[in-house]
Amino acid sequence: MRFDIFTLFPEVFTPYLESSILKRAISNHLLEVSLHNIRDWAADKHHTTDDTPYGGGGGMVMKPEPVFASFEAALGEEPKFPRILLTPQGRPFTHAIARDLSRETRIALLCGHYEGFDERIREHLVTDEISIGDYVLTGGELAAMILVDSISRFLPGVLGDPEGAIDDSFASGLLEYPQYTRPEEFRGWKVPDVLLSGNHAAIQKWRREQALARTLLRRPDLLGNLELSKADRKYLDSLSADDSPAERNSK
Ligand code: 6GU
Repeated sequence: MRFDIFTLFPEVFTPYLESSILKRAISNHLLEVSLHNIRDWAADKHHTTDDTPYGGGGGMVMKPEPVFASFEAALGEEPKFPRILLTPQGRPFTHAIARDLSRETRIALLCGHYEGFDERIREHLVTDEISIGDYVLTGGELAAMILVDSISRFLPGVLGDPEGAIDDSFASGLLEYPQYTRPEEFRGWKVPDVLLSGNHAAIQKWRREQALARTLLRRPDLLGNLELSKADRKYLDSLSADDSPAERNSK
């Protein structure tokens, strides 16, 4: 999978791409990231990439020419793959969108700075607009990095553990169950007995119930979209009937 990232600040991507899982994915040729500096395509001697808005008002607007020129130079005239603008006005990014995009072989990402983009970029250059949440960033670079990271996790071979992407929060539509590792007791706080029992059926049941309880408490909005089993429903009903905090382990 190849990403082409168009930005005024290509240097901010490098340290993240040169660490940990993405670094390994790149050296194993599962992932390729090409950084393109939009400023290199500004035609005037000051390398201007922004200008004041027609109609007046504050802020600066990203000029169309350098953005179009950088896209055409790197992607050719008629690219057949997604070209995504990162903007708070885009559709909200989700696990499902990341999974769908991971089926592409190539994706172009456009990061803006300044107050906005010339509308012709939206209308005639990009094919999609994505936001990473309801808050405003100073630029699209962090958002682009988030897309690269979350999409790459779905590429076969990128995660060491092939189960990693399956049990995750959101893969099942539920938040993840609590995890513990050694020691068995830390500062007097014990690992739940069931996890030490060796009883795999009991462990699976406990994990499912913990995931359900955690989702009900923290993100009840997620439960609406799910197909739940009879046992799941019964467990959730028992929690709603109970006035004790749902997530607390019964002790
Ligand atoms: Cl994609 N860009 C910017 N600048 N701010 C954002 C965003 C993107 N998503 C949420 N806020």
